[in-house]
Amino acid sequence: MAKKKTVFECQNCGFQTPRWVGKCPSCNSWDSLLELNQEQIEFLKKTSAKTSVSKKAVPITKIKSEEIQRFSSGSKELDLVLGGGIVPGSLTLIGGSPGIGKSTLLLKVAGNLADMGHKVLYVSGEESASQIKMRGDRLGAANKNLYLLAEINMDNIALEIENGNYSFIVIDSIQTIYSSETPSAPGSVTQVRAITFELMRIAKSKQIPIFIIGHITKEGSIAGPRVLEHMVDTVLYFEGDSNSDLRLLRGFKNRFGSTNEVGIFEMDSSGLRDAKSMSERFFNKEKLQPGSALTILMEGSRPIVIEVQALVTPAYGNPRRSCTGFDTNRLNMLLALLEKKLDLPLGTYDIFVNVVGGIKITETSADLAIIAAILSSFRERELNSKTLFIGEVSLTGEIRDVPSLIQRLKEAHTQGFSKAIVPSRPIENTGLKCFVANSVEKIIEWM
Ligand SMILES: Nc1ncnc2c1ncn2[C@@H]1O[C@H](COP(=O)(O)OP(=O)(O)O)[C@@H](O)[C@H]1O
Ligand SMILES: [Mg+2]
Repeated sequence: MAKKKTVFECQNCGFQTPRWVGKCPSCNSWDSLLELNQEQIEFLKKTSAKTSVSKKAVPITKIKSEEIQRFSSGSKELDLVLGGGIVPGSLTLIGGSPGIGKSTLLLKVAGNLADMGHKVLYVSGEESASQIKMRGDRLGAANKNLYLLAEINMDNIALEIENGNYSFIVIDSIQTIYSSETPSAPGSVTQVRAITFELMRIAKSKQIPIFIIGHITKEGSIAGPRVLEHMVDTVLYFEGDSNSDLRLLRGFKNRFGSTNEVGIFEMDSSGLRDAKSMSERFFNKEKLQPGSALTILMEGSRPIVIEVQALVTPAYGNPRRSCTGFDTNRLNMLLALLEKKLDLPLGTYDIFVNVVGGIKITETSADLAIIAAILSSFRERELNSKTLFIGEVSLTGEIRDVPSLIQRLKEAHTQGFSKAIVPSRPIENTGLKCFVANSVEKIIEWM
């Protein structure tokens, strides 16, 4: 009798091995390998044989380059993140935590496109057609060109697309759709791979742009298989704080544009709107409280003013350090530096840092503002509400230059700021009074 073949597959990245191991050697996740049954192995053999192509290679000089034809989504911010608009035949994945507004955004975009005369299909495996209709009414997205399909079976969805002649499709969400041909549970690697492959085939062969919604896990990656991120053309993440009405749409991967741009939206009762003016969105106070400091970050190509807050209080027991929107390791580094350079007894204090508006700071130019906020809270002395702190702090206590300083300062000037503490004097006049602080010891002078 022939020996039975066994295959184990990682449910996170799709890695396959004949023997079970506790930790996936490909993506390092624990206990993610699952044994495939005989039916699944047969399916795997079948599909891998099917995908072999026989095309001849062509010299690159013989290939005609094509200009990408994009069309607007009706939302300036989404167009910006996509690199100038929607590319026909592209597959885009939008990830975000539950309730952040993924369905709202895409239903609104679907409505915009329907208004422009495109025939649009919105497939939902999560909500009934009447629920979506209710949301559509609230968003002003009811147009006869917008078709709703509450369906979780991929075969029926493919059939509808085949017969519908649509020019834009939304799939809400990938984790709920299953293909009956695939012998696995919805959300598993095999299912997601099969469905994404099918959607990709439809998108490319019919030149229809398809937007897929994906849920994300607590750790912040798209829930379920990572294979999804590799297969699609564009991956966007929707982030923000459910307590604030601000949402950021960030590019993570884009085959048709840069991933540097960030879309900024506001959530209100009529849905998501492009954020109008950046000034006063993140910060609009006459007076700051002790513990608050302002800085200006680059979100994509746009500078935005943000407020960082610190709370420094005597510790009872082990001192606690906690951050929202900022890296805790980086905070620890800054605190160590303050202790060493300024002789502050911070080891006996609890220290909390928060970035206002649900923004996550990913650049180091906010270091100086974090230090300013900590010192301000420690000394119970408020900072001037028209002063910005800009600079990266190095391990030696030097304050280093940041990219696009002049652009930041010019934007700050138009928003009514008058003073900035910067690492070096800018080479041109930006309208702001600039004070140079090139070491941590120096900033005490400006507090
Ligand atoms: N009737 C309503 N009026 C105002 N806001 C609403 C209403 N219904 C839902 N929302 C808001 O819309 C947000 C986004 O929901 P949704 O787009 O379904 O998120 P997701 O698809 O990302 O899970 C919800 O968090 C909720 O705050
Ligand atoms: Mg939803």
